[in-house]
Amino acid sequence: MTIKDLMQTMDYGPAPESATEALAWIADRPVIGHFINGRFTAPEGEMAEVVNPATDAVLTRVGLGTVAEVDAAVQAARAAFPKWAALPGHDRARYLYALARHVQKRERFLSVLETLDNGKTIRESRDIDVPLVARHFYHHAGWAELMADEFPGHSALGVCGQIIPWNFPLLMLAWKVAPALAAGNTVVLKPADLTPLTAYAFAEICAEIGLPPGVLNIVNGDGATGALIAGHEGVAKVAFTGSTEVGRVIRRQIAGSGKKLSLELGGKSPFIVFEDADLDAAVEGVVDAIWFNQGEVCCAGSRILVQEGVAPRFFDRLRKRMETLRIGDPLDKTMDVGAVVSRKQLARIHGLLAQAEAEGATLHRAPVQMPAQGAFCAPGFLTGTAPAHTVSQTEIFGPVATTLTFRTPDEAITLANDTRYGLAASVWSQNIDRAIEVAAKVKAGVVWINATNIFDAGAPFGGYRESGYGREGGRAGMREYLAAPARPGKPRPDPAPLSGVAPHAGKADRAGIDVTAKLYIGGKQTRADGGQSYTATGKGGVALGQAALANRKDVRNAVEAAGKASGWGGVTAHNRAQVLYFLAENLSQRAEEFTAALAACGTPKPAEEVAATLRRAFWYAAQADKFDGAVTATKSNHVTLTVNEPFGTMGLIAPDEAPLLGLMSLILPAIAMGNRVVAVASQSHPLIATRLYQVLETSDIPGGVVNLLTGARDELAKTLAEHDDVAALWYCGSASGVAMVETASAGNLKPVWTDQGLTRDWLDPAQGQGREFLHRAVQVKTIWLPYGA
Ligand code: NAI
Ligand code: MG
Repeated sequence: MTIKDLMQTMDYGPAPESATEALAWIADRPVIGHFINGRFTAPEGEMAEVVNPATDAVLTRVGLGTVAEVDAAVQAARAAFPKWAALPGHDRARYLYALARHVQKRERFLSVLETLDNGKTIRESRDIDVPLVARHFYHHAGWAELMADEFPGHSALGVCGQIIPWNFPLLMLAWKVAPALAAGNTVVLKPADLTPLTAYAFAEICAEIGLPPGVLNIVNGDGATGALIAGHEGVAKVAFTGSTEVGRVIRRQIAGSGKKLSLELGGKSPFIVFEDADLDAAVEGVVDAIWFNQGEVCCAGSRILVQEGVAPRFFDRLRKRMETLRIGDPLDKTMDVGAVVSRKQLARIHGLLAQAEAEGATLHRAPVQMPAQGAFCAPGFLTGTAPAHTVSQTEIFGPVATTLTFRTPDEAITLANDTRYGLAASVWSQNIDRAIEVAAKVKAGVVWINATNIFDAGAPFGGYRESGYGREGGRAGMREYLAAPARPGKPRPDPAPLSGVAPHAGKADRAGIDVTAKLYIGGKQTRADGGQSYTATGKGGVALGQAALANRKDVRNAVEAAGKASGWGGVTAHNRAQVLYFLAENLSQRAEEFTAALAACGTPKPAEEVAATLRRAFWYAAQADKFDGAVTATKSNHVTLTVNEPFGTMGLIAPDEAPLLGLMSLILPAIAMGNRVVAVASQSHPLIATRLYQVLETSDIPGGVVNLLTGARDELAKTLAEHDDVAALWYCGSASGVAMVETASAGNLKPVWTDQGLTRDWLDPAQGQGREFLHRAVQVKTIWLPYGA
């Protein structure tokens, strides 16, 4: 027998981590209540059992937070907010630093507690989750320290309502709590009812280090408690991690409330293996991608795409690798796979696997010895899964990946992006050109090259498309918990009913004024689909002419035209800057004409508005090649890039108060960053926009990059908000319109930025221009490039 044979046949003896301390802690807590205003309170409402899914043992019981309990927690957080926010950053940093230290001191205890509650292996909770928790608090102690320097003029938001899932209970707590507290907010957090234990232990640490009462409150409970927190009027921001379905519910629930929202939702992330990949490394990658944490990972590499030439070999090696996987007692340090979180989750996984087999897929399961009790699911993968199969599109959230093969890199990218999600992707190739090309083209917030499931507090994490919006970690994550300096104006009225709606006139009735204004779609002036126009009035109610009345069909045509102009995102920033300069030049040649037209509209400072528009074009042209990403300090042997990527097609709803400058203040940053736009002009002063058509035509802006519509603002806004191919929306209308677009955006979960229905002084560069606009025009993609061994 060779040593190699010996290694393969050798059995592991059990190596359990001691659970004595954690079990004693649990025994002392027959009821897990809430942590409100620095006190541990006995629950008033119903209770749920807290179960160890590896043994089915009931560990303790947890209270499900009631209306009164949620209210008490929010009131406590509100009361604590002013003092906490006013503390010097250094003082908040000391608290965060103390939390990090205490978590570190209790690493073993917290790891065991997490494993008992969730079923994940001790190797994982001890080596990944809990160290990352400590790292998160250290990193954010740093942000607290540097707040005034790094985010000048920014302020905390208020009370943050945070709702987290059960797959990384303590880590998700850290991702939510650390940035919120660093920025000066106070928190009401709800752990998942399946896994409340480590959050409770964390609350005890908060009490121990003397965190001021009310700064962090924990209300336990299920979805109903979560909805109470999200809906509470005392909450200024909602941060949610969980299913896309609940993300949508929350988006609709808080529409129009003025609450800031970040969503970290589901995924169906591609794991792409090219022929030139290091196949052994890629096989190990699969272990970490889909069998890690029992596959209960939002960014799991759950769709394996393999290039045809190596597919049979790769699947063989995967099957071989599965033979060595061990499943069982999560406290045993030699286990690779633990228990899934609950019997219910197990049934859900089994249901999806049965459906896959019914749809014609073949399930390859690890030949593991299954434990006699507990919610265990054998790891595996599926072959014969077609892109249209349910399991190819739906999160299984268990240790089973789907597979597909591809021929060419282009096909790989098409398949990778054939999903409504966009959380993560993993690319395996030894060819650096190819790997980076795919990383750039895949629509996902995080891309790992020759690696998978690596996290760091300094690396922004979050989704594209229906995987949500907002980032956690690093500078981008901090911005989610801060308000930029602003000087809000007056409430904007709802739009007046359109007057003079009539069939398109088709000819001019007064010299110099074009009464036959059309729409501008795909670089061409086009008549409105419905053949209708409406009257634009100016100073003193004088009729200035007729503007085209766009309908839903026109919006769809404009979005389609924008979709075809995707080349714009690929031109160099230098080229985009040149186009913006040229636009400014062409506009300046017609400055007098625009000034006169604005004066006729009755805007207060027409000449200033034109001059400010020109300056703004120069400013964004200058930013086009300067508002860039960063190389982020994460781990050794990694280059971690944070890249600002355009969304694609954006919908822009311009304000009435500055018909030219307001419109251009939205268009310029969006296109400077490489987006294409469908912009809705001021409803009351549409003819200013129609004068821009010629300027755009002569400015080398490719057709379809800027599309302009005139008509009923909120009707067009609603169609844009609902449109699946519109990736982000900016809305400058009334408060009721804000509620409407936020509700309508829940379909494809596009990020919506509104100014809360309040006017602003667009002439003031501090309000109408700046990096805030650029931040909103991009989504951060984090690309991990490990190097060395
Ligand atoms: P879920 O989305 O219902 O639960 C996540 C959290 O949201 C929990 O704390 C829950 O109590 C809370 N919640 C539920 N309904 C709510 C509401 N209306 N308002 C506010 N909070 C609410 O996820 P669930 O049911 O535990 O798992 C179902 C599936 O969701 C999983 O199989 C998986 O596919 C996905 N999921 C994704 C996660 C991720 O990290 N992206 C995490 C957990 C689940
Ligand atoms: Mg549990």
